Amino acid sequence: MLQVFLIGFMGAGKTTVGETLADAWNCPVYDTDACIVEAEQKTIPEIFAENGEAYFRSLEKNMLKKLVQQRGVITTGGGIILLEENRQLLKKSGRTFFLKCEPKVFLDRLKDDCTRPIIKEKTPEDIIDIYKKRLPFYEQSANIIIDTTSLTIQETVQTIEDITKRTC
Ligand code: S3P
Repeated sequence: MLQVFLIGFMGAGKTTVGETLADAWNCPVYDTDACIVEAEQKTIPEIFAENGEAYFRSLEKNMLKKLVQQRGVITTGGGIILLEENRQLLKKSGRTFFLKCEPKVFLDRLKDDCTRPIIKEKTPEDIIDIYKKRLPFYEQSANIIIDTTSLTIQETVQTIEDITKRTC
C-alpha cells in the first residue's frame, strides 16, 4: 500500500482531498491534528490556550514521526512545515504533495472560522502575510506541487492518482 502526505495552508482542502483519496484507494487516512486531539483528549484551541503553540508543535512533530510508519494517506496541519526536522522528513518520504492555492481560495474558506488559533483576530492581509512567510517551507517540503486554485476536489484527487500511477 502506498503512503502519501498532503501539506498546505489552512483552508487548502487537505482534509477533504485526503478523505476522498483514501476512499478512492480504499486505504486508511490519518490526520495529524485529529490524532493529536484524540491522544490529548483536547481540542486544538484548548491545547493552544492551555499549553501554548510550542507545546502543540512538539506534539505535532512527534505525531508526524509516528505517522511516517503508517501506510495510506496522511494529512497534516498547515504549520507542520515550520520545523526543519518535519520538512526533511516530509521531503524524504518522496511522496509529499503540496496543495497550493491562491489566497482568495483559502481566505474564503477561512472567513467564518473560529477553530484555528493562528488566525484568530487576524485580518485577511495578516493571513496572507503568514502564508507568504510559509510558502518557501511548503515548497521545500514537497516532492510534488499541485496548483488546486481552479480544481475541484475530485480533479485534485484525480491529479494525485495520475501522478502516483506514473511515478511508481
Ligand atoms: C495550523 C493549522 C491547523 C492546526 C492548527 C495550526 C497552522 O490545521 O494544525 O490550528 O499553524 O497552520 P489545518 O491546516 O488543518 O487547518
